[in-house]
Amino acid sequence: MSEGTKVGFFDSGVGGRSILDAFQRVCPEARTLYIADTEHCPYGNRPAAEVRKFAEDCTRRLVEAGCGIVVLACNTATAAAIEHLRAEYPDIKFVGLEPAVKTAALATKTGVVAVLATAGTFTGSLYTGTKRRFAGDVRVIEEMADEFVAEVERLGVERLHDLSSEEGERLEGIVMRRVEPLLQKGADMIVLGCTHFIHLKGIIEKVCAGRAVVVDPSDAVAARVKSLYEGLA
Ligand code: DGL
Repeated sequence: MSEGTKVGFFDSGVGGRSILDAFQRVCPEARTLYIADTEHCPYGNRPAAEVRKFAEDCTRRLVEAGCGIVVLACNTATAAAIEHLRAEYPDIKFVGLEPAVKTAALATKTGVVAVLATAGTFTGSLYTGTKRRFAGDVRVIEEMADEFVAEVERLGVERLHDLSSEEGERLEGIVMRRVEPLLQKGADMIVLGCTHFIHLKGIIEKVCAGRAVVVDPSDAVAARVKSLYEGLA
């Protein structure tokens, strides 16, 4: 492995730490950097051009710090910026996040899948293109859950992983209000299309228990980053 190779991750906040954690589980020896762009959080409802600028700033800082691989650990930033970044930095390997609507469409038994993501992700051509190509035969319910982003940022990763029972119940209520109507509409796949939501996976799974599968992309993304990392060896 080249001495200077580091793997950089960024997101609007702590959401992408879910992707970093998954990568560190499979590749603990890699040197990693993480930028939480909390000054501009949330990205979800901002114009794509603005998110692209934030993504450019984060990428520049990671590249200047020696990252040869940059992970856009944010579906919204990927939608707004990944093509642009690939053109701008041809020597850097980029990995992005995109809602796993194809996986869900292939696996659904009810023919109804729900995607939880931000407005910026839903309007991006990556998502709309994948949905058109692979989910034409199923009903896709698109649900924004901006309050999940706010809760995850407010609590922070450490507290989220060690919730008091009171806090856990409160969060479960928030998740229930958003997810129960999706289950009532017949969704048997709930796609986590925002990296912040991965931190709430346990609670979302509890709400969905026996009724829907929660689709979490983090292990697949981590495996992809690992193979790129090993390819640079
Ligand atoms: N974590 C980001 C994503 O995956 C979005 C959160 C935000 O709105 O900033 O899309």
